[in-house]
Amino acid sequence: MFLKTCILSLNALSGLASALVTPRGGGSGRHGSGYGNGGGSTTKLTTFEQNMIFDPPDNYTDPQVLYPRTVQLHDGRLLATWENYSPEPPLVWFPIYESMDHGVTWTEISKITDQVNGWGLRYQPFLYEMDQDMGPYKKGTILLAGNSIPTDLSETQIDLYASVDKGRTWEFVAHIAAGGAAIPTNDQTPVWEPFIMRYKDTMIIYYADQRDPDHGQELSHQESTDLINWSDRILDVSEPTYTDRPGMPFVALLPTGQYMYVYEWGGTTVFENYGFPLYYRIADDPRHFINATAHLINAGDSYPISSPNVVWSPVGGKDGTILVSSSSKPLYFNRCGADPTICSWEAMDPPEDAAYTRNIRLLEDDPNYLLIMGAGVLPPSTTNNVTVSVIKVSDVLTAES
Ligand SMILES: *[C@@H]1O[C@H](CO)[C@@H](O)[C@H](O)[C@H]1NC(C)=O
Ligand SMILES: *[C@@H]1O[C@H](CO)[C@@H](O)[C@H](O)[C@H]1NC(C)=O
Ligand SMILES: *[C@@H]1O[C@H](CO)[C@@H](O)[C@H](O)[C@H]1NC(C)=O
Ligand SMILES: *[C@@H]1O[C@H](CO)[C@@H](O)[C@H](O)[C@H]1NC(C)=O
Repeated sequence: MFLKTCILSLNALSGLASALVTPRGGGSGRHGSGYGNGGGSTTKLTTFEQNMIFDPPDNYTDPQVLYPRTVQLHDGRLLATWENYSPEPPLVWFPIYESMDHGVTWTEISKITDQVNGWGLRYQPFLYEMDQDMGPYKKGTILLAGNSIPTDLSETQIDLYASVDKGRTWEFVAHIAAGGAAIPTNDQTPVWEPFIMRYKDTMIIYYADQRDPDHGQELSHQESTDLINWSDRILDVSEPTYTDRPGMPFVALLPTGQYMYVYEWGGTTVFENYGFPLYYRIADDPRHFINATAHLINAGDSYPISSPNVVWSPVGGKDGTILVSSSSKPLYFNRCGADPTICSWEAMDPPEDAAYTRNIRLLEDDPNYLLIMGAGVLPPSTTNNVTVSVIKVSDVLTAES
């Protein structure tokens, strides 16, 4: 968890370019793939800037909304969710919005409510579509992991939910990790920020972990082959200095078959003052990042700060392009497989504003299209809303930084 007091300066406003809409052929090329009946997205892909998905009503609590996450289903439709600071009671939930037109327009289809703890589903949702059967769940099931936290923030519980009807209804699946109060300071013991990914026949849930008394925060994961029974925690990143806070893991598969694990490293000595630059580790097996070498992400003296998202696109040459977003405005990209002996990272300003753990996703229909979703910045922000842009990776590569 990013120490919330440190990033108030990130509330940068973008210079808004005029909206550019570029129709393009393609549509959804993934029908008939065995994920159940169609009904998905068939519209053409377009680029657009900062379309509003949700502007919270006046009775929402600050920061209103935060921390967006998306998934694209195999029929082309997109789902989105975010931290939703609705007035309590009733207990907070994760909203599910759906887009059938590649992100241009969105409608609410369901609310995921806490079915087991009586606390609400409060922080850090993550969405994932299963691409093979596992345990009692079939390919095409949507998983949501999120942090269930009571109104007084006295406990944290990463829970797993599933939907077998494209996000209309949800059922509790399993408790993953339980921790102490939802307070991101070193003397506390919460768990934070789940990320779901399948590797072979194993589902992995990565998260940030403050439970070891010898470490302010570490990164862990748990494994399951049936989604019901989960392993004990397995360490991914742990630094010897107590006050170091590696956090907010996000993973991408590279074309080499290796996995790239990106995280913030609170307290690293690269900055004179305590800060949260991003690092990555690359491993053949995504269950074993613990001994992989950590590399800093920087484009000269421009650093992505806190809460990464990472994707790989085949666009951009023989190694394609790795794209990293953070809580700051620029998008960072690398065209040599993130090998620091071959090339450096570059940066450009996308049309989406800086946003806390801004979400990026390639559209499956054409990996030259990059969705960027923001839901505003950390407190004291009072005007957060959820917006989305779609840009072309090829335009990222030619942008002036
Ligand atoms: C909050 O405001 C919305 C929109 O006006 C309204 O629909 C909702 O009932 C209100 N919720 C509460 C708890 O007052
Ligand atoms: C989980 O593990 C328990 C104990 O080993 C076993 O009885 C149960 O069948 C497992 N659940 C599933 C879904 O395999
Ligand atoms: C990491 O390195 C330690 C020390 O050499 C070793 O004991 C451990 O088995 C390694 N872990 C993995 C997953 O490779
Ligand atoms: C949406 O959020 C941004 C950033 O917080 C803010 O500048 C803008 O005014 C908001 N828009 C609306 C319509 O509230």
